Amino acid sequence: MPATRTIEVVPTAADLFHAAAEEFIGAARAAIGAQGRFTVALSGGSTPRALYALLAANYADFAWNRVFLFFGDERHVSPTDADSNYRMVKESLLTKITIPPENVFRVQAENPDAAAAASDYDAQLHRFFQLKPADFPRFDLILLGMGPDGHTASLFPDSEALNEQSRLVVANWVAKFNTHRITFTFPVLNRAAEVMFMASGPDKADMLHQVLEEKKTPPLPAQRVQPTDGKLLWLLDEAAAAKLSR
Ligand code: 6PG
Repeated sequence: MPATRTIEVVPTAADLFHAAAEEFIGAARAAIGAQGRFTVALSGGSTPRALYALLAANYADFAWNRVFLFFGDERHVSPTDADSNYRMVKESLLTKITIPPENVFRVQAENPDAAAAASDYDAQLHRFFQLKPADFPRFDLILLGMGPDGHTASLFPDSEALNEQSRLVVANWVAKFNTHRITFTFPVLNRAAEVMFMASGPDKADMLHQVLEEKKTPPLPAQRVQPTDGKLLWLLDEAAAAKLSR
């Protein structure tokens, strides 16, 4: 069943994070009710920090012991580095909730060999989801952001990882940053039961118009996130949605 794409526009960034928190908790309650656990991959960057802080503030007593947290991508840095997505999630969420450490799956991005860090994370996913060799994990929810160049996770335009169809996690050389990033691949993103993009602010408006309303050849990375059997939600504030025609 093709993805059902929903675009939800809310007035302000604060509204965006409240709506995202409700969607997150709603998906978690449904998954825990149905299968006793909730598997979610978190996005990095700056936008989601406020969501994670809101989850910590308003849902500290949620059944976090039933939640299994992964990272959709990670910078090739140590977990204490200012650029680390894990550090951002730890500061905004993990230090403020009671979640068993074994429920948090960190990318070992301190490994100087980025490819080894990626294959180690790939193996962690295979073990956790008990995957057969050619299988892909079906996350209950994957959070994503979108960069001004249309990248998502660490799938950047013109980068190698865009073509990956068999591995779950790869080290992707990002020329513009002169560094590797460790990232989920499209097959993982598109296997999710739900993908929620969050985009806030005027600097995303141009690219959101291109991603959501223009046909691009080749498609922009964020356009290639089309869950084959899942929900696709774009959660935007009005500033980010300013150049959308609808
Ligand atoms: C990362 C993210 C990346 C992010 C976008 C948007 O590691 O940076 O995974 O894909 O979602 O770059 O970032 P902002 O939310 O900071 O604009």
